[in-house]
Amino acid sequence: MITVTRIGKHLGAEISGVDLSQPLDDHTFAQIANAFFDNEVAFFRNQNITAAQQIAFTRRFGTLEAHVRKEARLGGHDEIFVLSNKLDADGRAIGAQDAGRYWHSDLSYKREPSMLSALYAVEVPVKNGVALGNTYFASSTAAFAALPEAMRQRLQKIRNVHSYREYRLKNYAAQQDEERRRIRTVQEHAPTPEQLASVPDTEMDVVREHPVTKRQGLFINDGHTAYLTGMSRAESDTELAKLYAHITQPEFIYGHSWRVGDLLMWDNIAVQHKATFDYDPLPRLMYRTTVRGPAVT
Ligand code: SIN
Repeated sequence: MITVTRIGKHLGAEISGVDLSQPLDDHTFAQIANAFFDNEVAFFRNQNITAAQQIAFTRRFGTLEAHVRKEARLGGHDEIFVLSNKLDADGRAIGAQDAGRYWHSDLSYKREPSMLSALYAVEVPVKNGVALGNTYFASSTAAFAALPEAMRQRLQKIRNVHSYREYRLKNYAAQQDEERRRIRTVQEHAPTPEQLASVPDTEMDVVREHPVTKRQGLFINDGHTAYLTGMSRAESDTELAKLYAHITQPEFIYGHSWRVGDLLMWDNIAVQHKATFDYDPLPRLMYRTTVRGPAVT
């Protein structure tokens, strides 16, 4: 029997009583999907699944994406994006070492941004009995609902531009600094012209209605939103900084402490998320699948 236990005030639930290595009947899948969309973040503990089983489960929610960073895809399974600080026998990074440095929503720079992501914990760094490398999620629907009515009305009329190009350049520059500061070996090449050309900037409304729950949320994020339209960059930066500070208040956040075998899903339309990098040189290995969502307007 499936049990759903809400963890955070506005988001986050544990779903138990499910073995994701087994095929799920339609009724069970519908229960999972309902619990997931209602709670915006949902996780299953103690799973033991292969890459193919993770792909099969998340594919039930829709079309899977293959990440623009081909070098971080899992060999033989293009749909799995590898997040890890591990190196292969030749000293090369086996996946993205830097993903999630900023609050963001996965692939939000696309015309059809991601609906949801699923992250499976293969190796989790633990120090003195405490898991490191937590992931934090903020509900942009709860944050929007908490704004004063006049502010909500005003935001309905504003649009924003999401830019993979600006994100990668910002992230690349930060890595160069961080390497010097923390002596962390992050292997990262500057984005290639081919990568940048494949994901042009996308303009969209700041306020987005969720296609399933019909909740309205703020579809902006520090990682990918380059600017708000209809104002100067300085004004846009100021306004965005205030909105980000609002969204990431503790009451709108659920922080996940990982265990090996966790499969956690988040709703990229309703929440944004951020990784922590407090575990080097302990190894961390995660597999992510991402489901394409409807086009933004
Ligand atoms: C991500 O942004 O998808 C990565 C989250 C994490 O590795 O904690």
